[in-house]
Amino acid sequence: MDLRLLVAEPSEAERDAVDSVLGPPASTNGHAAHGGHEVREQRHLLLPALRAVQRRAGWVSEGALAYVCKRLTVPPAEAYGVASFYALLALEPRPRRVVHVCDDLACRLVGGVELCEELERRSPPGAVHASPCLGLCDRAPAALVTVAGTEPAEWAVAPAALDRLGPNSKAPPLPQSGSRELRLLRRVGVADPTSLDDYRVHGGYEPLRRAFELGPESVVAAVTEAKLLGRGGAAFPTGRKWDAVARNPARPHFLVCNADESEPGTFKDRVLMEQDPFAVLEAVTVAAYATGCERAYLYVRGEYPLAHERLEHAIAQARAAGLLEGPDFRLDVEIRIGAGAYICGEETALFESIEGKRGEPRNKPPFPVDVGLFGKPTVVNNVETLVNVLEIVRDGGAAFAATGTAESTGTRLFCVSGHVERPGLYELEFGATLRDLLELAGGPARLQAVLLGGAAGTFLRPDEVDVPLTFEGTRTIGATLGSGVVMVFDETADLADTLLRIAAFFRDESCGQCVPCRVGTVRQEEALHRLAAGRARGDERATLDELAQAMRDASICGLGQTAANAVVSAIDRLGVFANGSAQ
Ligand SMILES: Cc1cc2nc3c(=O)[nH]c(=O)nc-3n(C[C@H](O)[C@H](O)[C@H](O)COP(=O)(O)O)c2cc1C
Ligand code: SF4
Ligand code: FES
Repeated sequence: MDLRLLVAEPSEAERDAVDSVLGPPASTNGHAAHGGHEVREQRHLLLPALRAVQRRAGWVSEGALAYVCKRLTVPPAEAYGVASFYALLALEPRPRRVVHVCDDLACRLVGGVELCEELERRSPPGAVHASPCLGLCDRAPAALVTVAGTEPAEWAVAPAALDRLGPNSKAPPLPQSGSRELRLLRRVGVADPTSLDDYRVHGGYEPLRRAFELGPESVVAAVTEAKLLGRGGAAFPTGRKWDAVARNPARPHFLVCNADESEPGTFKDRVLMEQDPFAVLEAVTVAAYATGCERAYLYVRGEYPLAHERLEHAIAQARAAGLLEGPDFRLDVEIRIGAGAYICGEETALFESIEGKRGEPRNKPPFPVDVGLFGKPTVVNNVETLVNVLEIVRDGGAAFAATGTAESTGTRLFCVSGHVERPGLYELEFGATLRDLLELAGGPARLQAVLLGGAAGTFLRPDEVDVPLTFEGTRTIGATLGSGVVMVFDETADLADTLLRIAAFFRDESCGQCVPCRVGTVRQEEALHRLAAGRARGDERATLDELAQAMRDASICGLGQTAANAVVSAIDRLGVFANGSAQ
């Protein structure tokens, strides 16, 4: 694209799409408004504006980009940098209807790659794209269909097939459906996710009422007493985070619900948002009240259209019913939709994305509790973490801490996929072992490996299934629960192929900001390809170890720091590539 693009003109449709986000231009004499503090303050609307163009026109042309730049006074090179960062924004013309077919870990076990190739053969150029995990791994193979136009539409399909790509939003029942042990999932499949009244019938908005009775400080104290640890991957104590923001004198405070869920194999937050959206919103409201946040953002990955719809609906209903306010408290809530970038799940990359920039992680410190979104104190929590807060406020911190184990309190959601009889989302009290979970899900007779924690996680051997699925239990065997992924591989699975896909994922998703990760993820993939082709160059194992160490020690963020975990664990624990002399 030629970056002297301010001369290009938008089409009427593109202009309308941008104006639908930014409002009509201030000047009406045919020229868009220029400059000014007010306009620059709208910079955070850059991604929503680009997304609106994508949905209306099917791609972002030079003219559309030029118009967005004029309206927001953003330099063209910068806007291009943002537009080119996100996989769901196209900078070349595309057909109006596009199918994104998942060729990631669970889907390639059941023909996702072949489905993608066959659809490509049968479709016009540019109408089919291979995609990383779409968060539907329990119903693999998955696809996402997007249709641009005056009435744009997006829908997910799973399982997808050549003749099965139409919309069908009917969710399958939970594998543990009807179990009285379910806590976080107890309303899923039971309460109508589109009805505020039904949510209330099932106990909804009791916790918020209780929170208002307790007052902000007591809510933070209860969360601290509950010993709740973050479920987004880093397992940070939620109470400590909340306390730091609540006490921070700088204003305003922001709350960000991290619903970017892009770790391959993860789909728990999607189920909560689609099937119990009022609970997610109520939890956000409680958290904002406790920490003194005036404004909350729900950052939802772009590939979850049903979650967007259900959450938008829940917000509108709650607002109309006066449920976003309380004593000395009024909350603005807004959904922000991602555009296809795994790295935007990293909390500071997420802030950059909301601010209308490329999703590049910031150096820490300063931490978000001090300098977060728009430079202000910010609470950022995962969807599952937040939903736990409803239990804590309702039953008390001590009751919550009495469940699970001493270090891992409460329950945990596990995303089970791959070679099991009953894939799906499971909820278990902390303390259960991997064996317990595999028995529930119908694990294979001939287990080859389990990937625990996602692409950034660890491969386990069949003799390691007695590990307790707790933070401390997995730590003792050098593994991690990560985002709750439990992907099961029987003896038929080609683990070398799985590792190549993981390496490609990290190479693709690295934001490229720091050298160890940008170069390391490429070199790692190259070494694995040489091993897979039987063309090992010297001691490839030593090369992989060196790369792993450099990425772990010198990368800015968790993506680079964990990009070698699964690869190294598969080589170490399972002897993958042993014949190609990785050892
Ligand atoms: C590359 C990368 C991707 C991440 N993706 C997510 C994500 O999709 N959802 C999430 O909640 N946390 C994700 N995280 C973790 C967040 O940075 C952060 O720790 C989390 O949102 C904090 O919430 P919690 O304390 O409730 O877990 C990611 C981290 C990294 C390094
Ligand atoms: S580690 Fe990778 S993803 Fe993270 S900042 Fe560096 S290049 Fe970007
Ligand atoms: S949806 Fe395909 S791997 Fe997750």
